[in-house]
Amino acid sequence: MAQGRTGFVLRLPARVALPVLLAGCSPKTSWLAGAGTGALETERMMWIMLSGAVLIWAAVMALAFWAARTNPEDPRKTEALARDLVRWGGLVFPIAVVTTLLIWALFMMRGAADARADMVVAVEGEQWWWRVTYDPGTEAETVTANEIRLPVGQSVRFLLTSDDVIHSFWVPALGGKTDMIPGRETSLLLHPVREGAWTGICAEYCGGAHAQMRLEVIVEPAEDFAAWRAGLAEPVAAADHPGLDLFLTHGCGACHTLRGTPANGQVGPELTHLAARTTLGAGILPMEREVLADWITHTHDLKPGVLMPAYPDLPPQALDTLVDFLMALE
Ligand code: CUA
Repeated sequence: MAQGRTGFVLRLPARVALPVLLAGCSPKTSWLAGAGTGALETERMMWIMLSGAVLIWAAVMALAFWAARTNPEDPRKTEALARDLVRWGGLVFPIAVVTTLLIWALFMMRGAADARADMVVAVEGEQWWWRVTYDPGTEAETVTANEIRLPVGQSVRFLLTSDDVIHSFWVPALGGKTDMIPGRETSLLLHPVREGAWTGICAEYCGGAHAQMRLEVIVEPAEDFAAWRAGLAEPVAAADHPGLDLFLTHGCGACHTLRGTPANGQVGPELTHLAARTTLGAGILPMEREVLADWITHTHDLKPGVLMPAYPDLPPQALDTLVDFLMALE
């Protein structure tokens, strides 16, 4: 009984810590989620490499045990054996394995750079959010921010650039990450195969709020995507709302665009369909009325370092009207 209690007490820290540690393993940011062909290929390669590593480890352990137990009678014989081990185990074997892996990786990457995609999305890294453009350079070009919707089963070519410093675009559940470099366009082909909401992250340190530069990636059925895409092209829905005046008189339009209104700022995220997004502050907060009010008045408490100025002195009634308006932007 006493022993059982001791065991329980000893295991307690592990019991308490485990849920906390596992909470960090959200499938939304896991490359083991298997939601895109790139991630699935990486996973396959990982399992094969892991199996190889376990085999090598077992062989080395067996050799170590053997070496510890043998008692060499003829040192010359041992020397010859050691030379063979170094030659085959330390030289030939690693070269063969690494070369095979390199050829395999090159084969996996083959064609990815110029393969035709079903659709094109341009993403520009900004401190600390994402400017997203659907069908760039075409008549259908539409700008949004911090949320990407994709139809399941279609391949997407991402054209990646940066406006300020180096960022890195990574949606682990879908596939490989690619740097966003100022003055250069990089490209990434993703092929989502599983519906769901996944999280993209900036994978290159880019300044103060780097860890809070996230993005929501929603993979949905083609019909849902088509309906959403058509809505995205529409201008502001609540252009007659009194909150629009407040938006304009407080200067919000100098940084943000609301298509169909005089607000055409390019510095901050596009807000035409803000309330249709699921997150706020570049993927870090839920899109809720109270959170949005808090974001406007206490911006820097919610995301330290963010470049948007806070409006703590906005009269409660004005704040209410402004938030009403923004929440109507669906
Ligand atoms: Cu952008 Cu880190």
